[in-house]
Amino acid sequence: MSYAHALEQPRRRPNLADPWHRLTGRWHNGGVEQYSLGQSRGMHKLRRLRFRGGFEVTEHRMDLENLPDAFRGFRIVHLTDIHYGLYFPAEALASLVEMTNELEPDLVAITGDFVTRSRNYIEPVAEILSGLRASEGVYAVLGNHDFRVGPAEITNALERHGIDVMRNQHTSLRRRGQRCYLAGIDDYYYRADLTKAMRGIPQGAPTILLSHNPSIIDDAAEMKISLVLSGHTHGGQVRLPLVGCLYGRSEERMRFKKGRDSLGATQIYVSRGIGTVVLPVRYGCPSEIPQLVLEPHREYATRSAIADGWLFARPHARS
Ligand SMILES: [Fe+2]
Repeated sequence: MSYAHALEQPRRRPNLADPWHRLTGRWHNGGVEQYSLGQSRGMHKLRRLRFRGGFEVTEHRMDLENLPDAFRGFRIVHLTDIHYGLYFPAEALASLVEMTNELEPDLVAITGDFVTRSRNYIEPVAEILSGLRASEGVYAVLGNHDFRVGPAEITNALERHGIDVMRNQHTSLRRRGQRCYLAGIDDYYYRADLTKAMRGIPQGAPTILLSHNPSIIDDAAEMKISLVLSGHTHGGQVRLPLVGCLYGRSEERMRFKKGRDSLGATQIYVSRGIGTVVLPVRYGCPSEIPQLVLEPHREYATRSAIADGWLFARPHARS
């Protein structure tokens, strides 16, 4: 018996619009359908473009009192609360990496919550984030969700992919012989040790602290840390007109919820973050990619020229 006639038949490609194929395909694949729709490069590109529109890039000039002149204009892109998982597809993360690289940052700071509850996403998130580029490096701290999922596993995966995870430690950044310090702590409710992280940093030296939870602000202000970068709050995630955010409305949790603020001499930026928790929904509170540009404080720059005893006020300080 010859099968030549069968070989000559044109092969039918699966097509979403073909109901018979959908029915048999579903049965053959045990309930999992695979169609070419959505797999093409064009569709990937379209999806990426859609996600690009979902991230808001914001820019903030941060005037730091003790910033050395060599760090004037130093640019930090701050990413936080990615929550990579079921509701955050790879295309979105790839777009995030692409957009961050387009900003050509000096440093990328990622302040935790890489995943939400599954270990399965640890390696993929680290692998995609390995595409981040910054002249002074990519640094990270862990968030409360990371501690629930597997802090050691997440740290290892990120380190293998070229991201420095700072666990109650610091490093110094050098430019033209001048130094600025970068410290990072574990999550506020999971083994955070600010004293340990700051040990060895000279008193009054310019320091940027990465802390997932902004609740560290009191301790940071006491130590006169120049700038804190945090996330955790998601900016409220859902913010209704007139009402504001629905979750975390106590007085102490309403402050340091999003954006810039300060306590004493310490400034803080709390990003709305990237991903979502509880429900895969954001409303009135879009995902954010903040870009922070460091500048020496204007008054600090001229302070040496002013005689002692002159009035000296910090415009951003609200204690
Ligand atoms: Fe989070």
